[in-house]
Amino acid sequence: MKDSAKNNKSGNIRKMFKSISGRYDLLNTLITFGRDKSWRKYVVKEACLKQGSLILDAGTGTGNILQEALLVYNGIRAFGADFTIEMMLAGKEREERISWCCADALNLPFAGSVFDAVTSGYLIRNVTDISRAFIEQVRTVKPGGRIVCLETSPPPQNLLRPFILLYLKFIIPMLGLIFAGNRNAYRYLTSSTESFKTPEQLSILMRDAGLSDIRIKLFMFGTIAVLSGTRP
Ligand SMILES: C[S@@+](CC[C@H](N)C(=O)[O-])C[C@H]1O[C@@H](n2cnc3c(N)ncnc32)[C@H](O)[C@@H]1O
Repeated sequence: MKDSAKNNKSGNIRKMFKSISGRYDLLNTLITFGRDKSWRKYVVKEACLKQGSLILDAGTGTGNILQEALLVYNGIRAFGADFTIEMMLAGKEREERISWCCADALNLPFAGSVFDAVTSGYLIRNVTDISRAFIEQVRTVKPGGRIVCLETSPPPQNLLRPFILLYLKFIIPMLGLIFAGNRNAYRYLTSSTESFKTPEQLSILMRDAGLSDIRIKLFMFGTIAVLSGTRP
């Protein structure tokens, strides 16, 4: 992708998340039938935290992965980085214990090898350079630390696919219009999911970024994936 196209995509992504920041969490819960919380719990489990661990959530949005982690581990230090300030402001109203940081996930403003775990939720589909995002995460995590990525996946080729596509193409944008006043943001969710990489393809990029022991767990009829790996 050319630099001007990358800047364009990043600018549009920021504008889109700014416009839905106040309704983001509500819509997440609605379109996933409330299952989103259990996937975040699984992300936290895969991060293998302990009391005192340092965790970074890249593309943290409203910080909902970190909120889940803080429910389980009161003694962790949680850092959330995102380039859409409005998303973080919406989360800050609910959770004071997160250190919020306005930053690009492709250029994290942290020294190398500082975090015990780096997580992300629905970030990777939105960045202009997936490999670089993983390389930055691997750089900032300690050796032996965990990288955990929650992302949507293209619907698998099976009998359910037509029903899933119907839900993605029509129901989700309609819910976006009704509850967030923004059909286009939720059309983008659908189109970017359909054309996105499969979990297996993502796992190759994670391996190429330097991770080992990569695991994939699928949820919601294969449309949600949690990938995790360890920095050797
Ligand atoms: C779909 S939201 C996910 C929020 C949260 N992680 C969750 O699990 O619900 C994607 C977030 O990634 C952020 N984002 C996208 N590209 C980014 C980048 N290059 N650097 C930092 N944040 C980015 C957006 O601003 C948005 O808040």
